[in-house]
Amino acid sequence: MNILKIIEKKRDKKELSQEEIEYFVNEYTKGNITDYQAAALVMAIYINGMNDEEITNLTFAMAHSGEVLDLTIFGKNVVDKHSTGGVGDKITLILMPIIASLGIPVAKMSGRGLGFTGGTIDKLESIPNFSTTIDNTTFINNVKEIGISLISQNLNLAPADKKLYALRDTISCVDNIPLIASSIMSKKIAAGANKIVLEVTCGSGAFMENKESAIELAKKMSAIGKLAKREVVSVITNMEEPLGEAVGNSIEVIEAIKALKGDMTEDVKEVVLELGARMIKMAGVGNDIEENKKKILENIMNKKAYNKFLQLVEKQGGDISYIEDVSKFEKAQIVVEVISEEAGYVEKINTKRIGEISANLGAGRIKKDDEIDKTVGIIVKKKIADEVKKGDILCYVYANNEEKANFACSELKKAYKISTKKVVKPATVLEVIE
Ligand code: URA
Repeated sequence: MNILKIIEKKRDKKELSQEEIEYFVNEYTKGNITDYQAAALVMAIYINGMNDEEITNLTFAMAHSGEVLDLTIFGKNVVDKHSTGGVGDKITLILMPIIASLGIPVAKMSGRGLGFTGGTIDKLESIPNFSTTIDNTTFINNVKEIGISLISQNLNLAPADKKLYALRDTISCVDNIPLIASSIMSKKIAAGANKIVLEVTCGSGAFMENKESAIELAKKMSAIGKLAKREVVSVITNMEEPLGEAVGNSIEVIEAIKALKGDMTEDVKEVVLELGARMIKMAGVGNDIEENKKKILENIMNKKAYNKFLQLVEKQGGDISYIEDVSKFEKAQIVVEVISEEAGYVEKINTKRIGEISANLGAGRIKKDDEIDKTVGIIVKKKIADEVKKGDILCYVYANNEEKANFACSELKKAYKISTKKVVKPATVLEVIE
């Protein structure tokens, strides 16, 4: 087989065979295909698409490019969760301890931030000494002992996706249905759960810009799940504004800790309750979605969810004194208020721009090997439909560099569209696809 012929075929809009896809995935994982050849093929896929059979073959080849975990020791229903990514999306940090506190095992592999979206692993690593790179046996043992473990893609799970995802980010090929569906589903298949809840985001802060394409992506992932004998439920969520208040790393962890103590914004609450209720149902411990939501709220109020988070942090080596007293987190040196020069109602927020501004402050990576600054980011105080008076604070910028802080401040003002007419508050959960 020859990679040039494979690139040529996709460039010329032809269908790739299972053998060709497997050859590409295996040889690229081993390092026998160069990044520039892989980039050419990925770009051809981005432009010319893939049919359902090709997407499925790509997913399975990536899922089997490394180990496939067997989690059946945790029972016949093992539930996992994944988000297609967004700005300020700290749901995993809040939801997974809640689920574990209900006695449902959580063995989750999460990603790092790339491009304008953040990643759970970078956020967790802002807790001093928290280790996200534990080995396979410790990962499983932690789940056995305390019911939860959250790790990065360091185990040999879907290594092809790890390489391809990083590559896609450097060549502007992330926002594409065949590539996202195969990336997410390969990781989920390799990670071993048989029940998967997906948060499929749409809007200006997501890879899918509208609800229709989010639904299309969700349906593709369900179809792949079915072929892999995995049950998939997708919750379509609105990412026309950042989720919650904080966009960054340590500031998102602080928001998650507050949420686990019961203090959360309405949009975060809506997503946590919907995803959580679906996970409880799929785990086979509660058929009634509304009852499941009550169970979640109960475990927040009785502190079981917060205590589970403490246990998780301690087990993975993190310093729990930071969780118990969030004022210990290192702070950015500069805090600037972004003041509204107009009065009215927030009509639109360019959410992708907010993610980019946060990344530019240092909270995200521009290139895949960039170091990130855990302390910087944005706290969003005005959201869609909120009334704004001249002089009100729209956001706070947390920065460690004056020039970057000033740039962020002027760009954030431009990211807001203020209307003189009242605006209806949009829902956050838009649809559930079972
Ligand atoms: N999240 C993933 O894991 N992969 C993608 O391609 C996009 C979001």
